[in-house]
Amino acid sequence: MINAAIIGSGIGLKHFEAIHGYRNSKVRIICENNYKKIQELKLRFRNIKIISDENEIFKNKEINLVSIASYDDNHFSQIKKCIKYKKHIIVEKPMCLSLEQLNQIKHLLKKNPKIKIISNLVLRANSLFVNLKKKVNIDEVFYIEADYIWGRRQKLFQWRSKIKNYSVTLGAGIHMIDLIMWILNKKPLYVTSYSNSIVTKKTNFKKQSFIVYIFEFSKNMIVKITANAAGVYKHFHELKIFEKKKTLVNSYLGSYMFNKKGIETQFKKLDYEYPDKTNRKKLIQNFIDTLIDKRSNSIISFKDQYNLMKVCFAADRSIVLKKKIKIRY
Ligand SMILES: NC(=O)c1ccc[n+]([C@@H]2O[C@H](COP(=O)([O-])OP(=O)(O)OC[C@H]3O[C@@H](n4cnc5c(N)ncnc54)[C@H](O)[C@@H]3O)[C@@H](O)[C@H]2O)c1
Repeated sequence: MINAAIIGSGIGLKHFEAIHGYRNSKVRIICENNYKKIQELKLRFRNIKIISDENEIFKNKEINLVSIASYDDNHFSQIKKCIKYKKHIIVEKPMCLSLEQLNQIKHLLKKNPKIKIISNLVLRANSLFVNLKKKVNIDEVFYIEADYIWGRRQKLFQWRSKIKNYSVTLGAGIHMIDLIMWILNKKPLYVTSYSNSIVTKKTNFKKQSFIVYIFEFSKNMIVKITANAAGVYKHFHELKIFEKKKTLVNSYLGSYMFNKKGIETQFKKLDYEYPDKTNRKKLIQNFIDTLIDKRSNSIISFKDQYNLMKVCFAADRSIVLKKKIKIRY
């Protein structure tokens, strides 16, 4: 039986929908530290304990799963407490904000091998991307473009502008970087990043709000990713995967596969679900499957999460050092 607690009730309420009632799992506690939200939660969830002190969760022996949906700079300390008090962990991306923190998490998990962790990288459960992954002929790919266009610039000016180490790479780009590494089942060797804050420099958001990354993979394959938190657009994940004989595309006008027939270029519309919000629950539910049934395979391993974080840290380092970075795994 899974007895869960959730910290933070923004996206945390999506975690609630994924967990509560799934395979005998129940959310017992929601922790929120905003007074107004606490009052609303108490009215909405009458059978669930609403608390404001996260330590109540860790001391509660009944809780065996904690879902961390607090601000990015809380994740690391909450992960450490979960491990100390032997609770499995669902953590929103990014799981932490520095390489030192990442290595500490790795070390603590190694000492506590029964504790499982998943970071909520929801694009891996998206119907369109699952099907594109099946269609890609990895050996024929020579170039990929992937754009995370946030379309929610106003969010930068809330808690994201107040926390010390906020990074648009870790907050936005991470989704596309994970998507590409997962589709290709490969790790980039080098990254060079370029960024600006043209749109946001006169606001309270003092970090870079637009970033372009050039990733170099083996055999000279190149991937360009953007983390675009500044642009005016609908929230969207644009993608173009170029192979020798075909191109797969997800654009605002639809998703397509282009093929060559002689000298003619033909295209076919792909009818997979996008944005496919209902399937976002699948990542968390698959994680619960792995807790209940040891034979279930996790959609994302800790090793994948660790490598992804290393790539993100290297990408941000390239901005600071203004040079190409060799990514060490
Ligand atoms: N996977 C995704 O696609 C995705 C999407 C959005 C946000 N996120 C991540 O989710 C996290 C939360 O973002 P959000 O958009 O839900 O923010 P939000 O501001 O909408 O909600 C966060 C809530 O958590 C509460 N909170 C923060 N720290 C807390 C603590 N220590 N104890 C109790 N309550 C606490 C806040 O009061 C707030 O109500 C962030 O890490 C963000 O990066 C992930």
